[in-house]
Amino acid sequence: MPELIQLENVGVIYNVHGHAPKQVLQGLNLTIQPGEFVAVCGQTGCGKSTMLRLILGAERPSSGRVLIEGCERPRPDRHRGYVPQKYSLFPDKTVLDNITFGPETEEFGLIGRLRPGFRRRREELREKAFGYLRQMGLQQSDAHKYPDQLSGGMQQRVAIAQALIMRPAILLMDEAFSALDPGTRADMQRLVRTLWQETGTTFLFVTHNIPEAVYLGSRIVVLGKDSPESSSRVLVDMEVPESARTASGYPNREELERLTRVIEDAALGGRLELEMAEFGG
Ligand SMILES: Nc1ncnc2c1ncn2[C@@H]1O[C@H](COP(=O)(O)OP(=O)(O)OP(=O)(O)O)[C@@H](O)[C@H]1O
Ligand SMILES: [Mg+2]
Repeated sequence: MPELIQLENVGVIYNVHGHAPKQVLQGLNLTIQPGEFVAVCGQTGCGKSTMLRLILGAERPSSGRVLIEGCERPRPDRHRGYVPQKYSLFPDKTVLDNITFGPETEEFGLIGRLRPGFRRRREELREKAFGYLRQMGLQQSDAHKYPDQLSGGMQQRVAIAQALIMRPAILLMDEAFSALDPGTRADMQRLVRTLWQETGTTFLFVTHNIPEAVYLGSRIVVLGKDSPESSSRVLVDMEVPESARTASGYPNREELERLTRVIEDAALGGRLELEMAEFGG
């Protein structure tokens, strides 16, 4: 049985006109099993978003291989969902149409909408979309609003529903909560953890927030450089034992401190207090 996601000795070099080529990632190795929740941390510019785009198939490595179930899949497809940092809803479609657009287009294309069976299928998809909205804590009445009539947090929930309705095996989320207020952010963290537990979806979740990484991740990966001149690779790769979690969902104090210390040492260099204060922890 091949691994779900395998990055083999991956390197990425960007050529920017008028500049020397920039090697962002080098010798990156990572294997991810089905059902893992991988929280990805690392300093700004270390290549976290690049790694997500490689796994999504939106970008190809300059060297090495990115394998999904043992195959190179260099184009995005329905098995890999993606929630970018900035919500990317269609501004001219209602919430409902935003959510059903993906499966409708995949199943019927743009012209196939004239085919018999489209209306029935559309109704089914709408029912499903309502289900996701309920799960996200949105009202039925929100379904007919346009994105600019929603708060940032609500738009982000719709973007997540948009990704979930495709039932992807892999869900890639890039700092998906960083623009949310702390209350909404905590709600979304709980929701994502519940979804992970209920669906068995494999998550890769990029965050700068250590408490968030420790709360959500079954595993934490820190990307970074060994020295300012080198390229990024995996600096830390560790499991978060479920057995160490308390009723709050967080690891117990001892484990929390240990994990935080390791991530901080690798990635943050003394900014921990600030992050904890921000989180209210
Ligand atoms: N298309 C591109 N062309 C040239 N350079 C790029 C391109 N995409 C990313 N980079 C550079 O590659 C490096 C890694 O970028 P990336 O966006 O992956 O970092 P990141 O870890 O996600 O950072 P952040 O935490 O700020 O989001 C950065 O120095 C960035 O400027
Ligand atoms: Mg990024």
